[in-house]
Amino acid sequence: MDYQTLRIIHLAGLALTFMGLAGVLALKYAGATTGKQPWIFQVAHGVGLLLLLATGIALSLKLGLHAPPLWLKVKFGIWLLAGGAMTLALRFSRFAGLILIFLGLLVLTAAWLAINKPF
Ligand code: HEM
Repeated sequence: MDYQTLRIIHLAGLALTFMGLAGVLALKYAGATTGKQPWIFQVAHGVGLLLLLATGIALSLKLGLHAPPLWLKVKFGIWLLAGGAMTLALRFSRFAGLILIFLGLLVLTAAWLAINKPF
């Protein structure tokens, strides 16, 4: 798969991951009084994470980064945090504002790392 296509899928994975988190957070924050279960958003989150990781690794290999530099390791840490954030959304939705800020900062940092490759 060519580099540009991988970037596009990476960004689609990013959108799915965080839309999934936001969907679960919103349902829980609203008390899920509609009886709707958040599973569809959990699936979006899971598929998004898989896409992010698979395309992230493929992009790294295309960049020739066989020994991952620090920025890539930190991005992997951010990926783990984005996975763990589902627990936050499910159990701590009363802190929805703080969780949204945290998620925004994760995306900001991951994008900054990928684009600037500071270390
Ligand atoms: C929550 C997790 C992640 C987020 C939010 C994220 C976000 C981004 C963004 C916004 C870009 C810039 C896309 C562009 O080129 O315009 C990018 C590129 C990239 N990401 Fe990720 N990413 C995540 C996880 C990962 C992981 C787990 C890896 C590697 C294992 C990875 C490796 C890369 C690479 C190699 C690039 C390409 C940099 C370049 O084209 O110079 N990312 N990512």
